[in-house]
Amino acid sequence: IIPHNHTVSIQERGQIKGHQPVILWFTGLSGSGKSTIANIVEASLLENFNAHTTLLDGDNIRTGLNNDLVFSLTDRKENIRRIGEVCKLFYEAGLIVITAFISPLLEDRVTVRNLLPQGHFIEIFVDCPLEMCEGRDPKGLYKKARAGEISNFTGIDSVYENPQNPEIFLDTSKQTAQACSQQVIEYLLQKKIIESKEAANRQDQKNG
Ligand code: ADX
Repeated sequence: IIPHNHTVSIQERGQIKGHQPVILWFTGLSGSGKSTIANIVEASLLENFNAHTTLLDGDNIRTGLNNDLVFSLTDRKENIRRIGEVCKLFYEAGLIVITAFISPLLEDRVTVRNLLPQGHFIEIFVDCPLEMCEGRDPKGLYKKARAGEISNFTGIDSVYENPQNPEIFLDTSKQTAQACSQQVIEYLLQKKIIESKEAANRQDQKNG
């Protein structure tokens, strides 16, 4: 197999969107708030920045592309590997890709990070104590795991490895989902991945 060099570059694809393509990789325990925050971030990027996004979520991907995988560490590794490759394709199309997967293993997250140029993989650690996630138990899965009805449940009888140096750290035991999503938007503005409407208008006027 000899990869072909594409005529249109990733940068050129990104330019027509008016933002930089990146991956916003949310990671954390089940019930930590990943999906909730990811949804608010995506809605804000659309509404306030007219950004072209896509959102990949654990429960959705596991009903389609990855419906052959279970929750053993081997299958979780394969889950994240495939998702990483899918993210890369959307990234190469110029989108802001938002993901919400537990992605418990450090090594697997590093593998995805290494698929992308530096600065384009943004790891967002959604931290929350296990007791609080278990108290929320939005899907009733912690209860089932404690009762032994499901096994290999992250935080109960399966490992979660905290990110060592995430680009963004969110603590949902102390901050609201709204405040957390605002923190993500501010990071993107600060890194010039997106720009405020005023800045975009000024640029348009300059370009005539
Ligand atoms: S990952 O560990 O492989 O990254 P992923 O994010 O795709 O997990 O899927 C997690 C979702 O699957 C959880 O939000 C939860 O709803 C559901 N789930 C079902 N069984 C388990 C389990 N044993 N461990 C964790 N999540 C589970």
